[in-house]
Amino acid sequence: MTGAILEFQAVHYRYPDGSKGLDDCTLMIAEGERTAILGANGAGKTTLLLHTNGLLRPQQGEVRYDDRLLSYRRAELIRLRTDIGMVFQNPDSQLFSASVREDVAFGPLNLGLSADEVGHRVDRALAAVHLNDCAHKPVQHLSFGQKKRVCLAGVLAMHPRVLILDEPMAGLDPAMQREFLSLLDELHASGLSVLLATHDLDFAYQWSDTMVIMDAGKCVARIATDTLSAQQEVLTRFGLGIPQVMQVWNALGSAEDTPPRSVEDLCRYIVDNGYK
Ligand SMILES: Nc1ncnc2c1ncn2[C@@H]1O[C@H](COP(=O)(O)OP(=O)(O)O)[C@@H](O)[C@H]1O
Ligand SMILES: [Mg+2]
Repeated sequence: MTGAILEFQAVHYRYPDGSKGLDDCTLMIAEGERTAILGANGAGKTTLLLHTNGLLRPQQGEVRYDDRLLSYRRAELIRLRTDIGMVFQNPDSQLFSASVREDVAFGPLNLGLSADEVGHRVDRALAAVHLNDCAHKPVQHLSFGQKKRVCLAGVLAMHPRVLILDEPMAGLDPAMQREFLSLLDELHASGLSVLLATHDLDFAYQWSDTMVIMDAGKCVARIATDTLSAQQEVLTRFGLGIPQVMQVWNALGSAEDTPPRSVEDLCRYIVDNGYK
């Protein structure tokens, strides 16, 4: 079994106005996996993510990273945020420098690295998100999708172990979504653990190794995505629906075969099995 990289134990968090963000939330995120946090609006996904790198602090309960209790001392938070990189839902809340290059360089410069090392990291991060051509552009001239990729590059330039993304597909058009998905797959293949929040069940079903379901501030289920077909009632119980690929699969009634995870695989199955 894969070891835990992040663990939440009975975490409670209320916002200053009394809203419940997390309510006795317990879960484990496995190292090296692609984990999707699913849940309705207001279920606590963003609040959960903000606890992973110490931006929010539990009022009760514990968060562990790499088997160690989080420390909220400044020096340790800096180290934690180097290891756990977060891409926020809205790129405008993350970008603040004049140019793309300056923005991506900001984090590494603050680590006190040499100018050469910073330059090298920025080049590699921009290449990873396919944005070299935009390096000297003003950030405000970029499209929404490009801004998201600049945020991702800024995180990658810190050489994180865990990548956290809040609703990464929201606001991207279908072509950009496909591009972002293959980018996430490349990063995962390079060894990063990836944890993201989404309300897009079809995307989560196609992409993730593990799905974590949140409801009213709690983690209510943790499912290995390739076993989802046998646990569909969990999704309906929490009002998440059934992935579209699985709905078609259910209608085909091919229970003995391994369910496909994408529309492409489903189409291939249909053609290969001679459905007319
Ligand atoms: N800054 C905030 N101030 C007060 N309440 C908040 C704030 N952010 C989130 N909440 C509340 O906390 C709960 C969980 O929200 P959130 O973590 O944003 O859910 P999700 O990301 O799943 O949509 C909701 O009831 C929401 O209204
Ligand atoms: Mg959210």
